[in-house]
Amino acid sequence: MRYTFAPLEGVTGYVYRNLHRRWFGGVERYYMPFISVGQSRSFSPREWQDFCPEHNESGDLVPQLLGKDAEGFIWAARELRALGYREINFNLGCPSGTVTAKGKGAGFLTRPAELEAFLDRIFSALEGPISIKTRLGYAAPEEFSALLELYNRYPIAELIIHPRVRQDFYRCAVRMEAFEAALRHSRNPVGYNGDLMSLSDCAAVEARFPSVTSLMLGRGLIADPAFLRPEKRTRERLQAFDEALYEGYRTMFGNDRNAIMRMKEVWYYHIHLFEGGEKLAKRLRRTTDRVEYCAAVQEIYRTLPLREHAVQGWTG
Ligand SMILES: Cc1cc2nc3c(=O)[nH]c(=O)nc-3n(C[C@H](O)[C@H](O)[C@H](O)COP(=O)(O)O)c2cc1C
Repeated sequence: MRYTFAPLEGVTGYVYRNLHRRWFGGVERYYMPFISVGQSRSFSPREWQDFCPEHNESGDLVPQLLGKDAEGFIWAARELRALGYREINFNLGCPSGTVTAKGKGAGFLTRPAELEAFLDRIFSALEGPISIKTRLGYAAPEEFSALLELYNRYPIAELIIHPRVRQDFYRCAVRMEAFEAALRHSRNPVGYNGDLMSLSDCAAVEARFPSVTSLMLGRGLIADPAFLRPEKRTRERLQAFDEALYEGYRTMFGNDRNAIMRMKEVWYYHIHLFEGGEKLAKRLRRTTDRVEYCAAVQEIYRTLPLREHAVQGWTG
């Protein structure tokens, strides 16, 4: 089974990806958080910083594009391929209101005619692998059979399905029955993504769906960076990783404040690898100061027992 790291905007930027690969690894491929494409034919400096080859250690890395403008997608895909990236992933899952209101991400799923024209154009213009990360629909999973009919018309390198609809955001249980039907009827290879928190969760999905080509891990892997390398899950190694991450962000941002803010995004999930972390999580949330931040992290490592795997204690 191929394990991959999901893209998480605001969390799995190049600093995180490089350090994760160095300290823990276990995933074959890292997907980059989305790059927005429109009519501007330019990348923002922040996007460029994230995908430029100088910032990315070698390995299997897949950039992801978000948008509804086919010519913008083609332009960006060609630019990325010129830098050495092979596969390009297309985001049809982002549930954020500001994205869907513009008909992008999961919002594109409500416009099948436009989506068809978009896919016709990009698949005829571009050579090389294009994968898609999708939800089951916008409002209801019944939307997926028509979407799958559309996807089946294109040579999608891999259809990665997060079995929720947009209106679910990340709440409620993943819709396994609908995933099963999707897998049965897809002509393209199918990857699974959603709520995998332990190796036994992964084994259960693998056993139930042996034809799945990959398992994509997101928040569970942020919570426990040693998810796929349990032999490396020691307090010393985890603490050293967290420190390296913080230092990496200090260098990237050039200040403590932003580095701490970025670390808080990580800790939102990571704290659930520790037993009884609620009080210290609250303390971390309030911190804006380097000394306080470091003291709270020290206390986490000094006082809280490590769990065997993280639990899903977050709300989003
Ligand atoms: C903070 C955050 C940022 C995300 N950013 C992206 C993104 O840039 N592109 C994308 O396709 N999905 C994004 N996602 C969705 C994840 O890739 C993944 O599909 C989702 O977290 C469910 O998988 P999990 O349960 O393993 O975390 C994001 C999710 C979160 C919580």
